[in-house]
Amino acid sequence: MEGRLKGKIIVVAGGGGIGGGLARRYAAEGAAVVLGDIDRALAEAQVGEIVAAGGTAVATALDGGDEASIKTAVALAVSRFGGLDGFHANYASFKDGESGEDILGLPMEAFDEVMRINARGFVLCTRAAIPEMLKRGGGSLVYTTSGAAFMGETVRLAYAMSKLSVHALVRHVANRFSPQGIRANAIAPGVVTHARFEAVMDPDVVAGMAARIPVGRLGKPEDIAAMGALLMSDEGSFVTGQVISVDGGNSMRQ
Ligand SMILES: NC(=O)c1ccc[n+]([C@@H]2O[C@H](COP(=O)([O-])OP(=O)(O)OC[C@H]3O[C@@H](n4cnc5c(N)ncnc54)[C@H](O)[C@@H]3O)[C@@H](O)[C@H]2O)c1
Repeated sequence: MEGRLKGKIIVVAGGGGIGGGLARRYAAEGAAVVLGDIDRALAEAQVGEIVAAGGTAVATALDGGDEASIKTAVALAVSRFGGLDGFHANYASFKDGESGEDILGLPMEAFDEVMRINARGFVLCTRAAIPEMLKRGGGSLVYTTSGAAFMGETVRLAYAMSKLSVHALVRHVANRFSPQGIRANAIAPGVVTHARFEAVMDPDVVAGMAARIPVGRLGKPEDIAAMGALLMSDEGSFVTGQVISVDGGNSMRQ
């Protein structure tokens, strides 16, 4: 396919609602995509849709807490497509949110699991991606974080802490590797609705959320993918070290 990402090779780690949108968009703009997910069948189904639409993509089993499987995804990009230009770390554990507890009641096992997947896992992704990007003379790392990192919620402490930690990771990578052509940025979505989200949410609650967003609607995976495509493309070559909110004006932070 033709587009801004033609000739680029991108790993998307974590499919699902937003990740599926990212993979579809990157492929539609011409990239060859490796889509990894802990749910291999889901990744294969999403890759099947991309290929049916004329895109280039391959699925792999990827556990974002497991260094070997992340390296396998990067190795697949190299062996199947010839290298690595982009890595979008997108998966997340939401385990502490499931408990509905504040700091006093939060099971520390849930805290540890969220930090292991969302914070440590994104470090593992970065360590796997950079050496291959250096061989190509640079690349783009994009991380999906969350507006929750800025909000001070009464629950989801580990989730918010894990996402905020990635903002430090972005700045480290951007500063350290800019001279070698590697950029790093985070996208912090507001509430993004998709089939998997709607399956577990009360429609009245969703409508109430949408009414509080300045642009009058919730986000879609395509909104996040549009920013991701810019950051992956050469048009984003002057953007690095940033945390970019894509949230319909919900945060308006400085
Ligand atoms: N949907 C929203 O409102 C929203 C808002 C802010 C941030 N985000 C962030 O966007 C990203 C995607 O969220 P989503 O709404 O698409 O959720 P989702 O549940 O639809 O997708 C998450 C995907 O991650 C995969 N996954 C979970 N644990 C994994 C692991 N250890 N290794 C590999 N894959 C794993 C799941 O199988 C799933 O396919 C997450 O980082 C999330 O924190 C989402």
